[in-house]
Amino acid sequence: MSDKAILEYKGQKYEFPVVEGSENEHAIDIKTLRAVTGGLITIDPGYKNTGSCESAITFLDGEKGILRYRGYSIEELAEKADFLEVAYLLIFGELPSKKELQKFNNDIREESYVDEEMKNILDGFPKSAHPMGVLSSLTSALIAFNPIPVDIDSEEEMYSAVVRILAKFPILVVWALSKRQGMPLNYSDGRLGYVENIHKMMFKRPHREYQKNKVVVDALDNLLILHADHEQNCSTSTVRIVGSSHAGLFASISAGVSALWGPLHGGANQAVLEMLEAIVADGGDTKKYMAKAKDKNDPFRLMGFGHRVYKNFDPRAKIIKKAADEVLHDLGVDDPILEVAKGLEKEALEDQYFIDRKLYPNVDFYSGIIYRALGIPTEMFTVMFALGRLPGWIAQWREMRQRKEPIGRPRQIYIGENLRPFVDIEKR
Ligand code: ACO
Repeated sequence: MSDKAILEYKGQKYEFPVVEGSENEHAIDIKTLRAVTGGLITIDPGYKNTGSCESAITFLDGEKGILRYRGYSIEELAEKADFLEVAYLLIFGELPSKKELQKFNNDIREESYVDEEMKNILDGFPKSAHPMGVLSSLTSALIAFNPIPVDIDSEEEMYSAVVRILAKFPILVVWALSKRQGMPLNYSDGRLGYVENIHKMMFKRPHREYQKNKVVVDALDNLLILHADHEQNCSTSTVRIVGSSHAGLFASISAGVSALWGPLHGGANQAVLEMLEAIVADGGDTKKYMAKAKDKNDPFRLMGFGHRVYKNFDPRAKIIKKAADEVLHDLGVDDPILEVAKGLEKEALEDQYFIDRKLYPNVDFYSGIIYRALGIPTEMFTVMFALGRLPGWIAQWREMRQRKEPIGRPRQIYIGENLRPFVDIEKR
């Protein structure tokens, strides 16, 4: 017999089924709560205790520091797979065969262009515009140039929508960067792999040949894999909730980009690097910044530390820390910021404030150091995160639509004024 939870309220008992996931997670199913109790709802700002859906894409255990995509550990995927394979896995549920991967790659190549008129939209932005704002707007604008509705019951149409966005989104990412840097807008090179092509579009300059650097392309590939999905985080929930109104894939992804922008979410990687730069410029006194982070009267937080779900090491941070050491070594980069980051991490891990609150480095603590070593400007870090997260957003949107989930529409407890008579403007 399956478990039940009993709620007692005003002398009445109500029974609710308990749902069990494949990793023994349990949730009280309160779908009937309001109906059977005559209006009772739950309240959970920030959704700390609320499961918004059942999902078969990503499993994470924040207490144990486990992250798996479709059952494969992030450590194994980061070591053995490439980004496009991981994208396929996340979106379609299984690792692709050689033939499937080849087709996927070719189909993406065929769609790797955007309408020339998109450049007019890009031209409308000032050079100072943050690339995340530009990316979100351009993604939304893509709809106008690809106004093909997707029949979500057709595997074929779903596949081609997935291919189109995976092909076109990196061009928008690169153009957002080129705009910022005042560089010509590069196009896709169909002879290259997915990530190498992105790297070439980012760094090809009109006056010199593009030189492939395997260390750099592999590091980029790895970072994109580590960011590819993270179950129901802020931006992914945004993608699912926007998509639940049956807004299209591009519109949902555009909303995801905006949600990712914030410094409490994807924007943290930019904030981490700015924080580390400020500490170095201020003489490298990590103790001073540790004290600020702990001072409740000071709004400063140690960026790149803490996570809503991980109350243990973020497994991605472990991989990225090792990669940062290797990449900087391979590229011969000696960056004082890496030493400051390691110093801060060591102090925080030994500090009672951080221990008590289970605050560990998250994925963003070291990623910016690698991006910087790869020559990616700081304000592009969150855009790189969006590029990595794209397959996850697509997979979650596809799952939500295929499961025919209802429109996302939370309720509230109203705490405003009760009914009162209108006051004429002369009497206010
Ligand atoms: N520095 C100092 N104190 C912190 C930090 C931090 N980075 N993070 C949390 N705390 C403290 C809070 O002040 C709070 O203390 P209190 O209990 O004495 O009031 C306690 O730890 C719990 O923090 P909350 O903000 O309630 O935790 P929540 O789960 O809501 O927030 C978050 C998680 C937003 C990630 C938070 O840890 C934070 O702001 N970190 C810095 C920003 C960051 O790195 N974000 C990236 C997250 S990863 C990602 O999105 C990809």
